[in-house]
Amino acid sequence: MNRLEGKSALITGAGRGIGRAFAAAYVREGARVAVADINPGTAEAAAEEIGEGAYALELDVTRQDSIDAAVAAVAARAGKLDILVNSAALFDAAPVVDITRESYDKLYAVNVAGTLFTMQAAARQMIAQGGGGKIINMASQAGRRGEPLVLVYCSTKAAVISMTQSAGLNLISHGINVNAIAPGVVEGDHWTHVDAMFARLEGKSPGQKKAEVEAGVPAGRFAVPGDMTGMAIFLAGPESDYVVAQCYNVDGGQWMS
Ligand SMILES: NC(=O)c1ccc[n+]([C@@H]2O[C@H](COP(=O)([O-])OP(=O)(O)OC[C@H]3O[C@@H](n4cnc5c(N)ncnc54)[C@H](O)[C@@H]3O)[C@@H](O)[C@H]2O)c1
Repeated sequence: MNRLEGKSALITGAGRGIGRAFAAAYVREGARVAVADINPGTAEAAAEEIGEGAYALELDVTRQDSIDAAVAAVAARAGKLDILVNSAALFDAAPVVDITRESYDKLYAVNVAGTLFTMQAAARQMIAQGGGGKIINMASQAGRRGEPLVLVYCSTKAAVISMTQSAGLNLISHGINVNAIAPGVVEGDHWTHVDAMFARLEGKSPGQKKAEVEAGVPAGRFAVPGDMTGMAIFLAGPESDYVVAQCYNVDGGQWMS
């Protein structure tokens, strides 16, 4: 459909999962996409599979020098940066009394500081080049409410929703739209990891937690990453120019807000 023809995008955490699906979708819509991930192997494999229009970048969103280098690499390679998607994130689960400083620091470094400072570096580039831009942060249904075993992850995603609101209100004066997507439950490595954690914490058999959660989804199934791409294309394109500081649920009806 070429809705992103000529655009230059950077997607963090795009070596797999939702970020990878967004990279493929953006290339199909005509964009050049930097497939950025802390894991250079998956970034390269994803870029190769997506083909022309995609290129791999090694990026650790917890390191300022890595963020700055990635934004500079995109600007050098594509001449500009029009779209940033912050998809990189980590998950952890534990009862409150077992939460460790190490887990808290790791999740906040990636999910909160990583999102903030990648957004900042992208915004600086977009302001310098002129012409506005689009920033999409991956939030979660987990950011809409607490969960008994997921305090840290839920709070990082609440922070992503809040940062999207403040950054959206600040950056729209530069023509930069900042919005977020809150998925519900999406098939992939992320949920394989979540299911395994709940199996351990709640004494469930492998796959049991996933089946229980799926039974509560009004749409009757887990999402696949492709279920998220329509919203990601909309928020990256000109049809969303008047959409500012919002967070959209794409969750099969699990949450209303
Ligand atoms: N999958 C779900 O059910 C679900 C639900 C709600 C929200 N989300 C959110 O959507 C986004 C994508 O989820 P996903 O399922 O694709 O996750 P995923 O775990 O499959 O992929 C995350 C990617 O981020 C990368 N990454 C981790 N640390 C990094 C770092 N420091 N720097 C750069 N990259 C790093 C990983 O290597 C991985 O490729 C995340 O923000 C997640 O919190 C996912």
